[in-house]
This record gives sequence, C-alpha cells and structure tokens, in this order.
Amino acid sequence: MSITHFKLREQFAKFLSDRGHKEVPPIPLVPKDDPTTLFTGSGMQQFVPYLLGEIHPQGTRLYNIQRCIRAQDIDEVGDNRHDSFFEMMGNWSLGDYFKKEQLTWFFEFLTKGLGLDPKKLYVTVFKGEGKLPQDDVSIGVWKEIFKEVRIDAEIGERIFVYDAKKNWWSRAGIPDNMPAGEPGGPDSEVFYEFTQVEHDKKFGDQCHPNCDCGRFLEIGNNVFMQYKKMPDGTFEPLPKQNVDFGGGLERLIMAVENNPDMFETSLYQPIVREIEKITKQSYEKDENKPSMRIISDHLKASVFLIKDGVLPSNKEQGYVLRRLLRRLAVKLRKLLGAMPSATDVAHISRMVLEMYEGLYFETEKDAPLITKTIEEEIKRFSLSLEKGLKEIQKMQSVSGKDAFNLYQSFGFPLEVTEELLREKGETVDKKQYYDEFQKHKEASRNASVGKFKGGLADNSVKTLQYHTATHLLHQALFDVLGDEIRQEGSNITGERLRFDYYSTKKPTDEEIKKVESIVNEKINAALPVEFKILPKAEAEKLGAKSFFREKYPEMVKVYSIGDYSKEFCGGPHVKNTKEIGKIEIYKTEKIGSNLYRIYAK
Ligand code: ALA
Repeated sequence: MSITHFKLREQFAKFLSDRGHKEVPPIPLVPKDDPTTLFTGSGMQQFVPYLLGEIHPQGTRLYNIQRCIRAQDIDEVGDNRHDSFFEMMGNWSLGDYFKKEQLTWFFEFLTKGLGLDPKKLYVTVFKGEGKLPQDDVSIGVWKEIFKEVRIDAEIGERIFVYDAKKNWWSRAGIPDNMPAGEPGGPDSEVFYEFTQVEHDKKFGDQCHPNCDCGRFLEIGNNVFMQYKKMPDGTFEPLPKQNVDFGGGLERLIMAVENNPDMFETSLYQPIVREIEKITKQSYEKDENKPSMRIISDHLKASVFLIKDGVLPSNKEQGYVLRRLLRRLAVKLRKLLGAMPSATDVAHISRMVLEMYEGLYFETEKDAPLITKTIEEEIKRFSLSLEKGLKEIQKMQSVSGKDAFNLYQSFGFPLEVTEELLREKGETVDKKQYYDEFQKHKEASRNASVGKFKGGLADNSVKTLQYHTATHLLHQALFDVLGDEIRQEGSNITGERLRFDYYSTKKPTDEEIKKVESIVNEKINAALPVEFKILPKAEAEKLGAKSFFREKYPEMVKVYSIGDYSKEFCGGPHVKNTKEIGKIEIYKTEKIGSNLYRIYAK
C-alpha cells in the first residue's frame, strides 16, 4: 500500500473535523513568544497556555499538522527511522473528551482510515511511579478496543507497561526534570510491528515495543495532560483533563507503506534519488545509507528553517542551521570524493521545495532566497574546509582543545571534526572540547552547548510580568520609531525579556530611553489587561498587532492593555500592569541587516 502525504493530511483532517475538531494553523519553527526552546519541537507547543487553563478561541477540540525540529536528535540521524525535521499530526481535547474517545478514535483512524492490520499494533501504558498511579483506565480501554477486533490483549503481550522514562510526557521529559508550572501526564503510545525485521539480540533477549532493534516503531503518542508540577515538587491536577496527541507524519507513512526505512518512503525518495544522481553512488549499498540519510534529513531541515526566517550564524537557531549545512557538506564530500559544488547542494534542496509545493512552498517564489542562502554557506565553508583539513592532516592526534581551535579558526562544528576524524579512525575528547568552550565564554551564546535540551522556563509570576511588558514594549517601539516596526521574535526567561524587531533605521539612545519611559509610564498607570475572543477580520479592523510569520485561525484571542495596546496572543498575562514593577532596557544590539534586539529586565 502507499499513500501520498497530501492524501494522509486530508484523511486526518476529515477524520477529526467529522468528530467536531477545528483546525488551528501551525506555528513557525521558531516560536515567537516562547521562553522555552530554540525550536517548535511538538504540536502542543502553542497550546501550553490552554493546557494550563486559558480559553482557546477555537474551542475545546482542535487539530493541526505542525512542522517540528528536534535539534537534540541531530546525533541520532543516520539510522532508518530518526530525523531532526518532521511533521507532527496532532489533536487536542481541552477539558473535553478524555482517554476512551482518544484511544478509540486513534485506533479507528489507523485501522479503518489507513487500513493498518490491527494485529501489527501494540500499545504501551504508564505503570505508575512514586505517588503517580498506574494508568488502569487506559489499560481497560485498550482491552475493549482489541476485543472488538477479536484480539486477546494480555499485559506483556499486546499491552505493555513502562515507567515514566517511557510513558510520561512533558516538554522537559520525566516528572523529576519538569520545572514548576509545567504541564505533563501519563501517556499511551501505539507501535507498529515490522514483522520483516528480525529482532537483534544485541538489544536484549526479548523484543518489545520499546526495544531499539527497529522491529517496533512508535507511530502515535496519546498524552493525558492532567497534572501540573508544583514548586515543592509535587503534582496537582490541572483545572481540566486534557488530551495532547501527536503522531509523526513520516512514521505513519512508513507504517502504511510497511517500510521500516523512512528514507525509502515517498517523503524522502525524491531527495535520495537526487543525491544518487549527483554523487553517482547508490543508496542500495549499505555503506552509503547513513551518509545519504543525514544529507537528506539535514537538507530538508535547513530548507524549512530558512523558509521560517533562520539564517546561518554563530548563535542559537542560526548555529543549528550552520551545523546542519556544514555536516551535510562533509557527508557529500565523502560520497563524491571531492567538495560538493554549492550549486549541486542548492539543486538537491529544490527537491524539498517541490515535494511540498503548494503546501509550504511556492518553488519559484521561495527557491531564490533558499538556494542562495545554502549556496553562500557552502561556499564559505568550502574555503575553510580545505584549510582545516590540511591542518588535521598535519596533526598526530586531535585533542579536545585542537577541536575547539578548529571551530574557532575554521568554523568546524564539533560534529564536523568528529566526522573527519572518524574517517581516520579517531575520536574527539568532547569533555575537553566543552571545557575549552566554557573558558572562552562562548557557552551561553552558543547553541551547541546546553541549550539543545531547551532549559524550560517556568510559568512563574516573573514570566507573566515579562510577557505583558513585551506587549507594552512592542507598542512603545511603534510610538517612538514609527509603524514600519515589525516584531521578529521574542523570548522570555525568569531573568529577562528579549525582543527582536525590524527597523530600517538604527534607534538612537534617546529613542530607546523614550521607549523605556513610555513602558514604565504605562506600568504606573495601572492599566487593566483583558482579552476578548473575536473573528480574525474584526480583530484586524481593531488594529490588533499580529505576528507576520504566523497564520491565525478564524477566531482569535486579542489581549488589550487599557487603551494602549492590542495584540493577537494566547496569554497568559498579569491582570494589571502595576503588577509588573519597573522595567529597565539594559542592552540593545544589531543582530542582522535592519534587525535589532532589546534586552530588558
Ligand atoms: N506532545 C506529545 C509528543 O510530542 C504528543 O510526543
């Protein structure tokens, strides 16, 4: 069987709309107001405030397909089923239906909708840990569901129970890692069995859904978001019991096509074929597979990142993009036996655009910027790659410190150095590399260290205050610098807020002072902060500010601060500006052409 990704999207949308769900547009890969992660890593990212209790303008049954990047998974790419860019098909119940409906519907979608054989489906359930109980309700529901299709669902045979490491979901992972204020809950995952894959004893005597041999593939995760972590480490029930479901679109296609190799499915084939053409190497050869998978995944991720406004740089999202492009260049060089030409790489990237034509890209319109960005980065890297390689040849062995020097002098990300050394059968002392990094105080500024896991901020009072202050700052910038100002992003931690904006002229010190004093004036005026839910067109007519990179649904939530500011926003906020206290703009910088950044606390 096969299915196009377009058809799968359509079926998913129909299945959920038939059950009363409204579509909510996905958010960009770099979330706007999110203090938490570098990238959108799951569909629920935009729903955090609503899972915590805010009212969603579209109602209580929602769905979408969200493009995601999990930068922490970059190292795992190379096998047959991991990718750093993927799309998550998701649906949410905000205090509406719960376990029974969710599990029954998803099973129905898989078996009746997509035609998967129920005998090939296995499920996992939370077995409980500490004070958090075993999810007996889900076990009961699964037994019923399997009984309907005449499958005996014994625990340990069809239904498997695991601890929190496997069957608890929050953005921070296990309960212990969750910051105060973070929502999470037990989850129940569904796995597809590739009966053609023999269990490999290297991974353990017995195969089971969470075994890493590749026989079982997780194709959907039903999270029952029902708890909030408290500052004292305990868990309290959320105001409502929510469902957060996510299933990888690429993986669902693998199941439908019954193909355990994601890169052989229709979502990667056009890219792999093009790589074969350019390198004159075959994917059939096992030794070529990891490289070709890495090139395909990294290129796809890069194309989507550039489309969502990221450019290669040495910081944060930009550095992830740089690493992806440089690593894929090294992989291509290995297959070609020579440095790839920038145009070759740009050429392969066009395949990505064409695969998603009309959905995420209009090839003719989008190709120039995307291919130019890729070409420039590959060209820049080619020059230093040859020099750096000569340097490596000269070295007897490469210490962590040398690896750091290669980064500083030739722009070799750590994994590029590792890649090149692997060819010589050597490894790098990563600890020494990172120690060296720390010494140069690059660590906090650079995405290669630490920030991958996201360092979640809490939903503390401080972040609420900064969030409301961000709206004031946005309006004040308009007042002072004029209405060509456009918000490019913002980021809030418990310590400060950061605001990026577009402006054709550099703000003067006086102008920044003026912005700061307007913000404080509005704080002192004790303005009420309120929201309204209204049709998008009406909100636009009212002059509410929106984020140009984001698509909004038909009904939107608009937060107003007295008569001063109106903005499309999910919340949450303080109730009155006087709760904010005083704001100080302590740093401003230029971060790109016509792009400026403000830090305030
Ligand atoms: N938010 C859940 C996940 O990412 C569905 O797996």
